[in-house]
Amino acid sequence: MLQINTLLLVFFITSTSYTQYIPFNNRIVHGKKGAVVCSSPEAAEVGIAILQQGGNAFDASVAVAFAMAVTYPQAGNIGGGGFLVGFAENKPFTLDYREKAPKRAHRDMFLDDNKNPIKDMSTHTRAASGVPGTVKGFWELHKKYGSLSWEKLVQPSIHLAKNGFPISEFLAYSLNSNTKKLSKNAEAKRLFTKVSSFKRGDILVQKELSETLERIAQMGADGFYKGKTARLLLNELSKGNGYITQHDLDEYTVKFRKPISFSYKGHTVISMPPPSSGGIALYGILKSLEQFDETDFPYGSAKYTQLFTEICRSVYADRSEFLGDPDIESVPLNAFLSNAYIQSILKSVRFEDEHAHSKDVSPNVGYFNESEETTHFSILDKYGNAVSNTYTLNQSYGSGIVVKGAGFLLNNQMDDFSIKPGVPNTYGLIGNEKNSIKPEKRMLSSMSPTIVLKDGKPYFIVGSPGGSTIITAVAQAIHRLIAYKMDVDLAINLPRIHHQWLPDTLYYEFGAISHDTQQILQSYQYPMKQRNVIGDCHGIVVTPSGIRVGVSSRGNGAAKTY
Ligand code: DON
Repeated sequence: MLQINTLLLVFFITSTSYTQYIPFNNRIVHGKKGAVVCSSPEAAEVGIAILQQGGNAFDASVAVAFAMAVTYPQAGNIGGGGFLVGFAENKPFTLDYREKAPKRAHRDMFLDDNKNPIKDMSTHTRAASGVPGTVKGFWELHKKYGSLSWEKLVQPSIHLAKNGFPISEFLAYSLNSNTKKLSKNAEAKRLFTKVSSFKRGDILVQKELSETLERIAQMGADGFYKGKTARLLLNELSKGNGYITQHDLDEYTVKFRKPISFSYKGHTVISMPPPSSGGIALYGILKSLEQFDETDFPYGSAKYTQLFTEICRSVYADRSEFLGDPDIESVPLNAFLSNAYIQSILKSVRFEDEHAHSKDVSPNVGYFNESEETTHFSILDKYGNAVSNTYTLNQSYGSGIVVKGAGFLLNNQMDDFSIKPGVPNTYGLIGNEKNSIKPEKRMLSSMSPTIVLKDGKPYFIVGSPGGSTIITAVAQAIHRLIAYKMDVDLAINLPRIHHQWLPDTLYYEFGAISHDTQQILQSYQYPMKQRNVIGDCHGIVVTPSGIRVGVSSRGNGAAKTY
C-alpha cells in the first residue's frame, strides 16, 4: 500500500499538465447511507445535501448535473448531452440524452468542395453543435423517478451561478490554459478569461446562466427548449453557421433504452447500449479477459499488458466498423453480445512476439488531440438506488461559444460523427457509414457509465471522462477490482494503459508500465507512447456490510458520503 501510494505521488509530481494541480484531499470517503462522487466539490456538497434531506439518487443527480453546469464549465453543462445508467426499484435502466444532429444536417456538411474536412468546422464553429439533450434528460429522469420538487433541485445551481463560487486551483488552471480558445468568442472571453490569469479563490459569477437556470427551475424543460432561452440560443446560432432550428428543439426527445447487461465473474455488468459504444466494448473486453486465468497474467506484467492491448485493439476496430445510432442504422447488437464474438476477439489476440511477425499492423494515423474533457458522477442513496452518469460538451468548453444572454456554452459533439469515413476525429477515432451524419441521428459515443451488480444489488458504480479512453479506463477499474481483487482506491487510481486500434500505439500513464515490460513489448514491436492522462474514474463501492466507499481520482475530484 505504501509502495503504491509512493508510486502515485511520484506520478502526480513528475507528470506535467494539470496533474500537477491535484490537491490530495477528498479522495476516499466512507459512509453508511449515501455517496456522491464527481469532479466538483461544490456539486458533491449539493448532491449529498439532497440525499440527507431524504431525496433519492435521481433527485441528487438532477441537482448535481445542474450544479456542475455552473461549477465545472469545462464539461458540466446544459448545452450538451450524455448518458445515465440507473438502478431503481431493483431494476436497471438507461437514459440516452445524447445530442442529435439537427434536421438540416447532412453527410458532407463539414467538407469542402473537394470533399475534404474543413479545418476546425466540426469543433470550433456554431455548426459543431448538436441539439442539446441535458435539460430534457434530467427533466424526464425527474418525471419518472424524482421525489423532491424540480425547483428545489435546480435552486442550488441558481445560487452558485448568481452569487458565484471561489474557483479551485484546477479550474483556474483549466481556464488559463484555454484562454486562447475562449477569447475567440466575445461572450466566452467576457465570462471565462481575465487580463491577468485566474487564480484559486477568484469568485466566478455567471449572472445570465443563473437567469437561464431560473427559467428552467420555473418551467422545466420548456425553460430551455422554448421561450426566452430558445430564442437566445437560436439567435446565437444565427450569427454563424448554426443548423439548429426551433423545430429541432421542439422535436428533441430522450430515450430510456434497454441496458447492455452481461455476467462477469459472478457479477452483472450494466452499461450503456448504442448510440454509446461503451457497453458493447466493455462486453468485448471484459468477457474476453474472463477467458484467462489472472494467475497466468500477473498484473502489470508484459503478458498482462499485451493481452489487454490485443483485446482492446480488436474491440475498437469493430467499434469503428459496426456501431452507430440504432434508431437510424442497423447495429448487429445480438452478434456483438454473443459468445461467437468473444471467440473472434480471442482468435485475433497475438501472444509474445507474434505481433512482431504480423503483416497487418495498422498504420499509425499519428493524430491524437490531448485536450479532452467530459465529466462523470456516481451516486448511491440510502434506499439502494444508484446513478452512473457521464455527460459532456465534447471537448473542454465545447466549441468555446457562449450563448449571449443565456450564459451557457455550446457543445461541439457533431465532431463525434464520422465527418468523413476513414478520417479520425479529435480522439483519433475512425468511423464509417454507420456513424455518418444524418438528420436527427445521434453521434456514436465512448461514454460508459456503468453499474456492476453483485447479488442483484449495486456493488460498483463507475465511469470516466476521456474521449476514446473512457472505455479502457472503466474496463481497467472493473477488471482490477473484480479479477485482481484490488481495493477500490487502487482499482480506480493506479495508472492506466490504452489501445484503440488506430493509432496503432499503446498509450500508458507514467507508472503503468515497468521498464521491463516496456522493453519486452518494444521487442515485440509495439509502438508505445506515454500520455499525461488516461481517464478520470469516479466510483462508489458497496462493501459486504453495506458501507459506501466513494473514490474520486484526479483533477478536481470530490467524494462525499454520509
Ligand atoms: O461521447 C464521446 O465519446 C466524447 N464526446 C466524449 C468526450 C470526452 O470524454 C472528452 N473528455 N475527456
